[in-house]
Amino acid sequence: MPLARSLSFTSLSGLEEWDEEFDREDAVLFEIAWEVANKVGGIYTVIQTKARLTCEEWGENYFLVGPYMESSVRTQVELIEPCNATLRRTIDKMNSSGCKVYFGRWLIEGSPYVILLDVGFTAWSLDRWKSELWENCGIGVPWFDREANDAVLFGFLTAWLLGEFAAQCDEPPHIVAHFHEWLAGLGLVLCRQRQLPVATIFTTHATLLGRYLCAGNVDFYNNLAEFNVDKEAGDRQIYHRYCLERAAARCAHVFTTVSQITAIEAEHLLKRKPDIVTPNGLNVKKFSAMHEFQNLHAQSKARIQEFVRGHFYGHLDFNLDKTVFLFIAGRYEFSNKGADIFLEALARLNYLLRVNHSDVTVIAFFIMPARTNNFNVETLKGQAVRKQLWDTAQTVKERFGKKLYESLLVGQLPDVSKMLDKEDFTMMKRAIFATQRQCLPPVCSHNMLEDSSDPILNCIRRIGLFNTAQDRVKVIFHPEFLSSTSPLLPMDYEEFVRGCHLGVFPSYYEPWGYTPAECTVMGIPSVSTNLSGFGCFMEEHIADPSAYGIYILDRRFRGVDESCNQLTSFLFQFCQQSRRQRIIQRNRTERLSDLLDWRYLGRYYVSARHMALAKAFPDKFIYEPQEPTSATGFRYPRPASVPPSPAHSLHSSPHHSEAEDEEEPYDEDLEAEKDRVNIRQPFNMPNRNKNQTVGLPEKN
Ligand code: UDP
Ligand code: G6P
Ligand code: GLC
Repeated sequence: MPLARSLSFTSLSGLEEWDEEFDREDAVLFEIAWEVANKVGGIYTVIQTKARLTCEEWGENYFLVGPYMESSVRTQVELIEPCNATLRRTIDKMNSSGCKVYFGRWLIEGSPYVILLDVGFTAWSLDRWKSELWENCGIGVPWFDREANDAVLFGFLTAWLLGEFAAQCDEPPHIVAHFHEWLAGLGLVLCRQRQLPVATIFTTHATLLGRYLCAGNVDFYNNLAEFNVDKEAGDRQIYHRYCLERAAARCAHVFTTVSQITAIEAEHLLKRKPDIVTPNGLNVKKFSAMHEFQNLHAQSKARIQEFVRGHFYGHLDFNLDKTVFLFIAGRYEFSNKGADIFLEALARLNYLLRVNHSDVTVIAFFIMPARTNNFNVETLKGQAVRKQLWDTAQTVKERFGKKLYESLLVGQLPDVSKMLDKEDFTMMKRAIFATQRQCLPPVCSHNMLEDSSDPILNCIRRIGLFNTAQDRVKVIFHPEFLSSTSPLLPMDYEEFVRGCHLGVFPSYYEPWGYTPAECTVMGIPSVSTNLSGFGCFMEEHIADPSAYGIYILDRRFRGVDESCNQLTSFLFQFCQQSRRQRIIQRNRTERLSDLLDWRYLGRYYVSARHMALAKAFPDKFIYEPQEPTSATGFRYPRPASVPPSPAHSLHSSPHHSEAEDEEEPYDEDLEAEKDRVNIRQPFNMPNRNKNQTVGLPEKN
């Protein structure tokens, strides 16, 4: 079976010393993606989080190239004059020839320079460019595919920019151009076809065919070698897109992808084995005190609880202190993202919690953007009712306080029976009456445009998770990405993740999967799968991932029903953890952040660039892959303390009692120190602050 093969692309220890020898003075790096300053999905996260490190490395010689999107530019980009004469001449020349090219600084960490190309402004060239594409590359793009049309315009503009830049340089330049994903890939093809002096890299973050085939219920991984790729692409009406993608992969000096599992996929579907795997990192923020992330969890959780109070008004018959928040988030690909098996597992969990008379309630959030017609009235009303109850309580409290104060002023203890008068009671009764509702708390926060055919809603209807009082598992589908300006749940995504207890991402198709990685660096445990790039990466580098709160679901060697049972058992075990066990587990999860830091993972990008320069300019650059050292293949050992799962931690974990925070102290500092001694710092990773403490609750 192809997946069992091992590809050792990630053996890149020792790159740092090599990097110092590299003379970057006369080299320029362009990184081109449709998601530069334009949020669509995970590729935006790659570019945005990596920017600071790449800026540190390339300084003034690093330029991101993306599409000009007015709404994003208004909020994310400061437009300025080009920073150097060559670029100014290039942009002026293009603008005087009928293009609109903007230059600015993207207002993110690292403040990278961005060159933004207005594809709409040059739409008049589309037909001409398409014929050129057909004549020179034999790729025909149909008129009705808007995304592909954009890809053509963006590709021709990018190649124009790079060609013009090369022509404007006084000395022969050493340009590296790194293209991401098929939407940006045509620029690369044209660079090669026009023989521009550019070292090219193409990174694919997923293959088009992979995404489409998996979404269509195909036994993908067992048939990877068998697909007739042209036919499959044709059947799905994406043949032209597929050709653009395959041409970019084949033409690149260096071809990379984000995980080993996608490397195998690319080898079969794009017919080229990637030269290097460039796993996705994150810009890991270190807090001066380690328990700070635990405090942030508590603060964000309190805000989610407020929302829940409103959403479930009139049905708040569960204990919020014993409520666990689960969530799934990302682009809305129902089965690729595993929303199907998550829902099924929730139904089974609901049954298990009920038959076991558990006092735990689970609220599962689905954050996946779909077409909507704004928030629904019932959901907004919930928040209004909650606010009204809060205001009533404040008013009564003030009136009460005033009477108390007046009584004390005249030296008398108040007559408690007179502290609340009739008016107060009327006000409170009115507020309580307002909390009565005739319907169940809604499972969806918005009015869906395709309500009757929506896969999540249909599945909820089938399994009957309707937020009834008997349900121990409640569901809230929020079909829009989160935003701090939302009138409903005013939190940005990061805050929301911090406030949850477990991210659940049981994907079937997931080249990398940023969502569980983001959970990890925020110290929130997650479920991913052995079919996701992230899951495989963690499996490779950690001896016992679940002990660190990284639950990896087996979707490779088990059938759907079995995987679903495994997921149910993860969730059920998680629900049985005590607060203290959750805290310990979060500490462990957070300790893995270094593994996902660009400071460590950025080296794969460095390597790809060196390899490309050496291939494009062999007289000037040499690429010598480093010999694997003992650090290669490093694995985080099992934590010194036993895993905090209830089934295995009876001896050294604290006893679970009602007053969890009052238990015998579990010396997590000591355990953490043992772990630290055990964990050699792999691959020269930055050292964590030795004096960090852990976020166990203070003992009174
Ligand atoms: N995301 C977001 N807001 C949300 C939910 C998700 O910005 O409300 C982001 C999340 O931070 C992550 C990205 O969406 O970086 C999803 O990336 P991933 O690689 O998991 O999947 P993709 O959507 O690219 O397939
Ligand atoms: C953090 C805080 C604690 C809080 C705990 C709640 O660790 O520092 O003060 O008690 O979160 O954890 P839970 O898993 O119940 O949300
Ligand atoms: C794609 C993949 C996702 C990956 C992201 C960034 O959108 O679907 O798994 O994390 O790109 O590489």
